[in-house]
Amino acid sequence: MAFPSDAATPARVMLVSSLLAISLFSVAAAGNFYRDVDVTWGDGRGQVLNNGQLLTLSLDKTSGSGFQSKNEYLFGKIDMQIKLVPGNSAGTVTAYYLSSQGPTHDEIDFEFLGNLSGDPYTLHTNVFSQGKGNREQQFKLWFDPTQDFHTYSILWNPQHIIFSVDGIPIRDFKNNEARGVLFPKNQPMRIYSSLWNADDWATRGGLVKTDWSKAPFVASYRGFNADACVWSSGTSSCGSKGASASGSQSSAWWNQEVDAAGQERMRWVQRNYMIYNYCADVKRFPQGLPPECRVA
Ligand SMILES: *[C@@H]1O[C@H](CO)[C@@H](O)[C@H](O)[C@H]1NC(C)=O
Repeated sequence: MAFPSDAATPARVMLVSSLLAISLFSVAAAGNFYRDVDVTWGDGRGQVLNNGQLLTLSLDKTSGSGFQSKNEYLFGKIDMQIKLVPGNSAGTVTAYYLSSQGPTHDEIDFEFLGNLSGDPYTLHTNVFSQGKGNREQQFKLWFDPTQDFHTYSILWNPQHIIFSVDGIPIRDFKNNEARGVLFPKNQPMRIYSSLWNADDWATRGGLVKTDWSKAPFVASYRGFNADACVWSSGTSSCGSKGASASGSQSSAWWNQEVDAAGQERMRWVQRNYMIYNYCADVKRFPQGLPPECRVA
């Protein structure tokens, strides 16, 4: 933070102290991909550009590519703007997710399944708790996600995992531990993203294959923002009592849930754009739907 002069006007003192409060609470800084992520695979197909403001992943017949956050997080509100592979993206998958390590890992997924030009992408979401997933919900989008950047957000606090697109909540996975449903809350997670070929299943269940004559396929990222509790050597930047203890403005996400207006918008999305919901798939669960599906 560079001020033009050092004069400590009251306004500046206030600004500085509120910045201090934010940094005590959680790490909320405008993203820079050089600082925040490592391109982990793809042999040069993942690139950080524009002084760290832009990242591109590409896929060709030889390889896809991917990156991961340097930090691990235990709760937070994480935003990323993504512009998906344009044109004929059939067979490609752009995955953007949070995940911990190991066989009983937790995971919060956005996956974008490509399609033929003019056919809609499928946005696939899932939540794993301690290694168990099977909680897929899929959506179409109400815009063309390849024309421009759109913001995909995960708000993860002890009571909710809220998936949002351009600030519109599309899914709210609630903490239902009281009903015996495991909820991700003990394992720190890293952010991962990758672009890869999945033409054995991704588009119309694998019927439409990747057209390699259109390669390289490119997805672009910008506007990364993690207002989140950073986990490092067994301690959280939010403190042992959790974020609520700090009482700072920026802890709003710690107690956030989908408000009445958000509920209405989420219903609009779910009514008009949801194409698969595990909670409605009674054939898949002959023994009965999972407990979190049986509550409002
Ligand atoms: C691709 O488009 C077809 C036709 O509209 C649709 O059935 C399918 O769900 C779309 N998405 C994927 C990933 O196949």
